[in-house]
Amino acid sequence: MDANIANQTSAGMTQRNSIADHLAKYGLQLLVSNNEFRTRCHRELSQSQCKKLEARYRRMEVKKYSAGAELKFYEFCADPKIGGIVHSWYADQLRVAGNYVTGILLGAGRILDVGCGLGYLTTWYALQNPNAAVVGIDYSPQTIQTALKLAENLQVTNVTFLTANLTQYRSSVQFDAIVNVRAISHVPKHCTPLKNIRRLLSTDGIFLTIEGITSAQDAQEYWTSLVGAGLIVTNWELIHYSFQGRSELDTAVTCRTVGSPISPDFVKMYMRSSKQINL
Ligand SMILES: C[S@@+](CC[C@H](N)C(=O)[O-])C[C@H]1O[C@@H](n2cnc3c(N)ncnc32)[C@H](O)[C@@H]1O
Repeated sequence: MDANIANQTSAGMTQRNSIADHLAKYGLQLLVSNNEFRTRCHRELSQSQCKKLEARYRRMEVKKYSAGAELKFYEFCADPKIGGIVHSWYADQLRVAGNYVTGILLGAGRILDVGCGLGYLTTWYALQNPNAAVVGIDYSPQTIQTALKLAENLQVTNVTFLTANLTQYRSSVQFDAIVNVRAISHVPKHCTPLKNIRRLLSTDGIFLTIEGITSAQDAQEYWTSLVGAGLIVTNWELIHYSFQGRSELDTAVTCRTVGSPISPDFVKMYMRSSKQINL
């Protein structure tokens, strides 16, 4: 396991093991350079897999917001070996997001993870909340199939994975906590999935959403979508992770169905942070 991930795990959390250990079980090891990524690809994948990976990634980048190109990329990464390498790029982001969410989720009975991917964080929430029933949804059937297998291998029993689109998913029971880590940004009109999330939240429920919002303008737009969906924003903060050796930024927002809204000064907040990370 990468020492960099392990050493940074926040102290004082009630953990059966650290999130870095948990991610390592999925084959995630922090990659800090393109060279490292290439070496791992060539060492662990076939030549044809390397070529396909590059082609699918480029297609997704060129066709931003094309659901077809994205889905193809995610389906390709559903192979645990390929996913393990690709997601190693984001190992520190997952570590920071997972630790952040865990501290807030404590005590929730029913937890929903929307756009759960291979379930790295879904199973982490389940392990940290052994009395909770955790559900992960993703619109990629292959991804869900792998997530189920991997959770079974890790013997996580309080988790279920379902193939479902987060804009349309319905459940007969509402959730005490809903978590989004970088999935909503993949849906063009944020307000549609957010309205669905509001519908799925129980009274007193909490919605935690972590997205790569790095500017005051994007923050303002996101705020408008959250409020437009009937959610009350109760906390807004910036969280830092390392990516290719530099400090990067995610925005973590807490929403509730009841309570007093906050109104952050986005300009001040994001100006300070861009200086801090030298953008
Ligand atoms: C960047 S990944 C994040 C995965 C996971 N949350 C994590 O942090 O490991 C985005 C995920 O959202 C899923 N996704 C994108 N649009 C979706 C939609 N409309 N409904 C359900 N899942 C979706 C993708 O299949 C992908 O697994």
